[in-house]
Amino acid sequence: MTSEQTVLHLLEQNRNRYLSGQEVANTLHITRSAVWKAIESLRDQGHVIEGISRRGYRLLTATTDLQKERLAGLLPSFEVHLFDSLDSTNRYAKVLASEHPEKPALVVATYQSGGRGRLGRSFFSPKGGLYLSVLLPMAFNLESAQLITSAASVAALEAIEQVGGMRCQIKWVNDLYLEGRKVCGILTEGVLGVESGRLSAVVVGIGINFCIPQAAFPLELQGTATSLFDGPSSVPASFDANLLVASLVENLHALVSKLPDRSFLSVYRERSLLLGRKVTVHQDRQTFSATAVSIDDEAHLVVQDDQGRQSVLSSAEISIRLEV
Ligand code: BTN
Repeated sequence: MTSEQTVLHLLEQNRNRYLSGQEVANTLHITRSAVWKAIESLRDQGHVIEGISRRGYRLLTATTDLQKERLAGLLPSFEVHLFDSLDSTNRYAKVLASEHPEKPALVVATYQSGGRGRLGRSFFSPKGGLYLSVLLPMAFNLESAQLITSAASVAALEAIEQVGGMRCQIKWVNDLYLEGRKVCGILTEGVLGVESGRLSAVVVGIGINFCIPQAAFPLELQGTATSLFDGPSSVPASFDANLLVASLVENLHALVSKLPDRSFLSVYRERSLLLGRKVTVHQDRQTFSATAVSIDDEAHLVVQDDQGRQSVLSSAEISIRLEV
């Protein structure tokens, strides 16, 4: 075993207390500097390790337990790619699309070093989350992109409820919220067919905060993010994360294959976090207050400002804040 592995093992066995650098060094017969290096390297691999001066180190996260064979067995029509670590599952899925555009694929990682979010933001992706991209080879036009993304949020919401029993809400366009905090984000990207010059495949990237303890989120996310389970020790022994992933992918596949009938929109509306509430809309360089009044058949959000003027929000470049 390398120093990193032994340090990780020791931290795993002592999750409920802080271990000083000296204690780790003495227990493993390595130098303090080797301990420090191992901790830094484990952090680079996506483990969140709290370090408090005069107290020591404590491991907060755990790798989500996924198995490639199990996922492949549950999803026979998908080619399954499972990684411990990847920069971004969406980026990888787009490379697959350029090589084998005709094959549906699922790319999963237990940690992303460069997780991508909407509006060019990054997506916090430590160990303890589920990061997946579903590559669906299908021609589609840009107008359908919003429908695909909305269908994906219903697919994820239903999978979380079916497998975990938690009831989420949808914050337009496609964030899932649990008890008022974001638990899942979705980024849909199109793949341009080289010969056709049209969008020939879609990559739906979904990040679920599965068992990231609240203390492991960075300060700027503390008030707004949450996890399905508050840390690895809160996950019931019988819970199978493979089933959650498989159910999500199956739901998505089914909803996208009947996209034109828009059957998912009833759930999308029913579970909206925004409808009937005051919101602040940030669009281009404009910001205005409004009430979210409805969601139309293209999954656009209709809002009404204080003067009674209605606007239909469709662009992916819009961000919305709930007013309290
Ligand atoms: C958002 O909330 O802004 C969207 C976040 C989407 C994150 C997922 S995690 C799996 C996939 N790979 C990425 O790099 N991003 C998406």
